[in-house]
Amino acid sequence: MRLVLVGPPGAGKGTQAEFIAAHFGIPKISTGDIFRANVSGGTDLGRLAKKYMDAGDLVPDEVTNAMVRDRLSQDDAVDGFLLDGFPRNVAQAGELNGILDEIGSPLSVVLDLEVDFDEVVKRLSGRRTCKKCGHVWHLEYDPPSSPGVCDKCGGELYQRDDDHPDTVRHRLDVYARQTAPLIDFYRSSDQLVAIDALGAVEDVTERAIEALTPFADDAVADEPAS
Ligand code: AP5
Ligand code: ZN
Repeated sequence: MRLVLVGPPGAGKGTQAEFIAAHFGIPKISTGDIFRANVSGGTDLGRLAKKYMDAGDLVPDEVTNAMVRDRLSQDDAVDGFLLDGFPRNVAQAGELNGILDEIGSPLSVVLDLEVDFDEVVKRLSGRRTCKKCGHVWHLEYDPPSSPGVCDKCGGELYQRDDDHPDTVRHRLDVYARQTAPLIDFYRSSDQLVAIDALGAVEDVTERAIEALTPFADDAVADEPAS
């Protein structure tokens, strides 16, 4: 399955991507995670990306496209992948179509996680992320059993620099101007499936898997990780 996840900041793309990728046995490729790994690794790419990320703006297309092209050429992506956070505008979607044409494998489906903006603001303000394994928690909706510590790996939890209220507002604005038109683009080409992303995480996962299963060539029967 070659799958793209879309939805506003805080819709739960990263949360659901983990479970969906495990269920279908495909690698999860998150451009946000790759940029953040470069920021913490102090690479040139990280230094460049950080300026845009901290402001809540998109990293320039030529940088992001080259990074995705390189990642999709790796062996684990040959039989399918889940893209979380890419494409994020119509130009990036054109780049993805170009890459898929070159490898002769079309996109299977685009899953849109629908959630209203009030909920998104609540989800982002309570989000805490593990420094070590990247797992995403929420102070109220999905709290770790000890404050500040990841239950999965014992790593330290932190609040993302771009989750502060002013930056969140700007990211939502960027989403409405640049990413929402992408959803219309995929809808008009009949590649979009939308689900309601409100409710408990496991209920959303169940809806997602049900919506995606008809598009899987050969779904792997892995249970989602808990
Ligand atoms: P990125 O990391 O992709 O951020 P985003 O799209 O803004 O999405 P988020 O990670 O904020 O939210 P999410 O939908 O993954 O929600 P999550 O699962 O964490 O991008 C960051 C930056 O990188 C961009 O601003 C840009 O600068 C750059 N970038 C990345 N890709 C790029 C691209 N293609 N082009 C250019 N620049 C790019 O959930 C949020 C919270 O809610 C969590 O705390 C979670 O526990 C909680 N939660 C999740 N589901 C539920 C639920 N069902 N009920 C209650 N709480 C829930
Ligand atoms: Zn962890």
